[in-house]
Amino acid sequence: MPDLAKLPPEFTWGVATAAYQIEGAVAADGRQPSIWDTFSRIPGAIDNADNGDVACDHYHRWAQDIDLMRRLGVQAYRFSVAWPRVIPDGDGQVNRAGLAFYDRLVDALLAAGIRPLVTLYHWDLPQALQDRGGWPERATAEALADYATVVAGALGDRVTDWVTVNEPLCIAWIGHLEGKMAPGERELGRAVRAGHHALLGHGLATAAIRAAAARPASIGIVCNPSPCEPGSDRPEDVAAAVRADGHTNRWWLDPLHGLGYPADMIETYGVEPPVRPGDLAHIATPTEFLGLNYYFRQLVVDDPDGPAPYARQIPVPGSMETAMGWEMYPSGLTQLLVSVAERYRPARITVTESGSAWRDELTPAGAVDDTERTAYLEQHIDAVAAAAAKGVPVDGYFVWSLLDNFEWAYGYDKRFGLVHVDYDTQRRTIKASGHRYADIISGHQRSHIAYTSNQSPQ
Ligand code: FCB
Repeated sequence: MPDLAKLPPEFTWGVATAAYQIEGAVAADGRQPSIWDTFSRIPGAIDNADNGDVACDHYHRWAQDIDLMRRLGVQAYRFSVAWPRVIPDGDGQVNRAGLAFYDRLVDALLAAGIRPLVTLYHWDLPQALQDRGGWPERATAEALADYATVVAGALGDRVTDWVTVNEPLCIAWIGHLEGKMAPGERELGRAVRAGHHALLGHGLATAAIRAAAARPASIGIVCNPSPCEPGSDRPEDVAAAVRADGHTNRWWLDPLHGLGYPADMIETYGVEPPVRPGDLAHIATPTEFLGLNYYFRQLVVDDPDGPAPYARQIPVPGSMETAMGWEMYPSGLTQLLVSVAERYRPARITVTESGSAWRDELTPAGAVDDTERTAYLEQHIDAVAAAAAKGVPVDGYFVWSLLDNFEWAYGYDKRFGLVHVDYDTQRRTIKASGHRYADIISGHQRSHIAYTSNQSPQ
């Protein structure tokens, strides 16, 4: 059992999902396509030619899924709102039927005693906005703010906790430079523009939520930094690790914390982000928390002929790898929490995603004994507790993911859930790791009750 007493009593335990990965029902109630509906139709883009048409059918099975969360004992649920349900053309006309889905979801979560943490943008850009240029265009950042106004206006009387944008790194670098995620572009200049507008969109959406929500809002962006280390002592590899850190971490976290874009990276890219007067102030607008998603570290070597940042990731010798081929490296989470807290001093940090995919098997008796995921979970929670013990203001941990789901370009093969989903029947089964998470949550609560009663006068 992780050392839970190191975590503050008010620490929040949650699970996370994202709209396109679980909802399905892509044509229901006026939803229009997103860039992921389009991308998943490109031959070869997604393993097994999978797509999110049905996914976990959460759009129809949400009540059952809330019940699963209640059984896990989680206190909070991070989900995303699908922009193409709410404003199907990206801007303009609001689709009340689409919005009503989230209205029902929020009411039912609150009735179950589960706090909603609402992500506005988890990658499902309305295709209509992509057709007008997508994230490389400034108008997309402005459209995000208008969409934020609509959602905060509708849900902000009950929702307190908001994430503006999930992982701008993936939007820019994976979607517009590496071409492995929607919209599948491969152009550095457009990627840099996309990244700037995703950050600007965060700043504008933050102001929009504050103006439109009826309750005081707690707002943050979610980034996915990784510790970056050189693969050898060669000076070229040491320099490559500095570039990888710039590309993965500083390019995002520096401007968000008022330090502007790192000059060394502007030089590496040979491209300036399209900053207009006032943009950097919007991007660095104060927020209540910083969300961090953590999966792996990067061991890199110099790669002068590769794409920016000219640093190639290499496997870590002797490491244990998840089904994604990602090294299991829990101490990297402590390291990140400590270094981000020291460098940027955010008011609070929430671990908004942490989890792992394994080759799970559902036994004929209907059980999933996922010992690796259980160990992963325990070790990563321990890593968070170690950071808290060092004074990092970390206030919550959200497991990725509640359910097995559509893992983007990897399709349905990669299972991250605490709950197994049989995609033929849509039957849900809580895995051993899910039961373990429930024990950890109640163990944490008990550890503080015990502590409080030990402290009380006899
Ligand atoms: C993160 C994404 C999330 C999920 C996990 C495995 O980058 O935010 O949607 O795919 O990775």
